[in-house]
Amino acid sequence: MEIKITKTLCPKEKPDSSTLGFGQVFTDHMFIMDYDTEKGWHDARIVPFENLSIHPASTVLHYGSEIFEGLKAYRRADGKVQLFRPIENIRRMNSSAERLCLPEIPEDMAMEALTAFVDMEQDWTPSAEGTSLYLRPFMFGNDETLGVHAVHHATYIIIASPVGSYYKEGINPVKIMIEAEDVRAVRGGTGYIKCGGNYAASNRAGAKAEALGYSQVLWLDGVERKYIEDVGAMNVMFKIDGEIVTPALTGSILPGITRKSCLEVLKSKGYKVSERLLSIDELSAALADGKLEEAWGCGTAAVISPIGELCYKDVKYPINNGEIGEITRMLYDTLTGIQWGKIEDTFGWTKEI
Ligand code: PLP
Ligand code: COI
Repeated sequence: MEIKITKTLCPKEKPDSSTLGFGQVFTDHMFIMDYDTEKGWHDARIVPFENLSIHPASTVLHYGSEIFEGLKAYRRADGKVQLFRPIENIRRMNSSAERLCLPEIPEDMAMEALTAFVDMEQDWTPSAEGTSLYLRPFMFGNDETLGVHAVHHATYIIIASPVGSYYKEGINPVKIMIEAEDVRAVRGGTGYIKCGGNYAASNRAGAKAEALGYSQVLWLDGVERKYIEDVGAMNVMFKIDGEIVTPALTGSILPGITRKSCLEVLKSKGYKVSERLLSIDELSAALADGKLEEAWGCGTAAVISPIGELCYKDVKYPINNGEIGEITRMLYDTLTGIQWGKIEDTFGWTKEI
């Protein structure tokens, strides 16, 4: 694939990496390519980071045809930059595209676009402890008409942002509220893909939780409001009475790449993990009986995030005295060790740029 490169004439100053938040600063360039049904994907280019100009009738502005991914580039101790399981993000993006009738991107083309872009922006990968270059590929339907149909034009973009931790708590435990009213997704809907609409629908509950001092919402299933699903921006895992449990991927939960990696790490170390239905009644009983030993969330932005308190219907349940549990710590150390190149990647998950 030919990628036309136009370099910025005004490179920005890079931020102090000890002060980075999440997704506030963007690098000098972005990758763009266009799709139409006649030409397929075309005009791949890396251009200076700038505002987009789109038609006011563009599909995305009216009917929410938007999907995205999130992955990170990490600065290793030897100075090189590496990606973590990028092929998984490429495949999930195509699964999201299939669900919303957006065009899929051939895997080799998507990998070439990603690696060329990261290569160009790699100096923006920060090196301070816990920092990385967050990559946000996204695609939207871009037909210039108000008819509702599968799109004929689409745009694919990758932007990048040097980031620190997603939560202000860093690796310290976060407080999560279990949402009893709103639901995020139903089976047959879009819960298993990364589309913007899932996040728009979750904002009301998220705002309510934040106003009460909680970082995010833990969702229950959309039909019976009975089974635990995922958290706002991460999957969730528990250790209940010795058993490590995570909700099974029933169709309304995002199949997280960090979740998959945690399961593979746990299994490789000989832990038994159950992917199964976990009801709110079972979880509440475990909380009340002190049998919930550890809870943590996992996601690209959130990394491994211990949960120190759950709140359900106004009852607050502290977990593990608000401290990081043993399994949570082991997963954090193992995954971040592989991502930042501090420990050997025996799984073959990393891709050097
Ligand atoms: N669940 C939701 C709703 C998310 O937004 C995310 C983040 O992308 C995850 C789970 C974790 O997915 P991953 O580990 O692939 O980042
Ligand atoms: C990620 O972890 O990459 C995400 O996409 C979460 C995001 C909603 C902040």
